[in-house]
Amino acid sequence: MNHFLDIHTTDQAALRGMIDNARKMKDARQDRPKGAADDTQPLKDRMVALIFEKPSTRTRVSFDVGVRQMGGQTMVLSGNDMQLGHGETIADTARVLSRYVDMIMIRTFDESVLHEMAEYADVPVVNGLTDRTHPCQIMADVMTYEEHRGPIADKKVVWCGDGNNVCASFLHAAAQFGFDLTFTGPVQLDPEAEFVGLARKAGRSVTIERDAQKAVEGADLVVADTWVSMHDSQSSRERRHNMLRPYQVNEELMSHAKPDALFMHCLPAHRGEEVTSAVMDGPQSVIFDEAENRLHAQKAVMRWCLGV
Ligand code: CP
Ligand code: NVA
Repeated sequence: MNHFLDIHTTDQAALRGMIDNARKMKDARQDRPKGAADDTQPLKDRMVALIFEKPSTRTRVSFDVGVRQMGGQTMVLSGNDMQLGHGETIADTARVLSRYVDMIMIRTFDESVLHEMAEYADVPVVNGLTDRTHPCQIMADVMTYEEHRGPIADKKVVWCGDGNNVCASFLHAAAQFGFDLTFTGPVQLDPEAEFVGLARKAGRSVTIERDAQKAVEGADLVVADTWVSMHDSQSSRERRHNMLRPYQVNEELMSHAKPDALFMHCLPAHRGEEVTSAVMDGPQSVIFDEAENRLHAQKAVMRWCLGV
């Protein structure tokens, strides 16, 4: 039984295997209706709980559809509606859910909830985003980059804006998939030093560059994310916007990257804030492939977790 908690704590060969498997499963479904079953039904007779303590569109729908395509069943649970949100311990919740379901995906705030769930569950636990990381997203992002441009190893990825949870998982992926990462954003929102150190220790170049234009020079991939994450207080909104405005990804900024550079965003995006519509809808943007690949990448993650 494998938990999928973070990219840096998952074996490199296993990660590569999941990306390859995701690709194969995607190819095998070309042009089928979304609700059609896969040829193989590896999750037949499996029940998967999807717990959300924060809002979600992509994670919720892609996990749900993915499980069903593989022959399994899902139940979507809101943290607030569960006893979890009313004082039952995470450990007890994990023990109870393990008696009913074969796998648990959880989106939560503090990552200690995820880790405690994994510690006490007898079934695999998947990280569907915490305040600190978002590994499923980056599996889809690596898959998407490679689908368009071939191996991501040794490429230059530039993260623009807030050094947040998605940025953290990009740093983990830099270490595991072997690419270099440049962060450009205000000093107050730098990525966690621990994660920068982890990528550097793995031999990857991690550069912090305050000048966005300089940062994107020679970029193979430019990535943005919201300026105000779900875990950030709304009262910090104006301050964050003021700090982050120089890091907006627009056509002018993209013109400093390599001509064949791609643009990614995990979505939801705020058009005209962290990225302009011209970039989102432009020829370098692969944001909707990225969203689609959440489905395929997570199907591979779930198969790895269950060993099926
Ligand atoms: N990218 C992502 O995780 O989107 P949702 O918040 O809609 O799940
Ligand atoms: N950084 C964002 C990602 C949303 C998918 C957040 O945590 O809200």
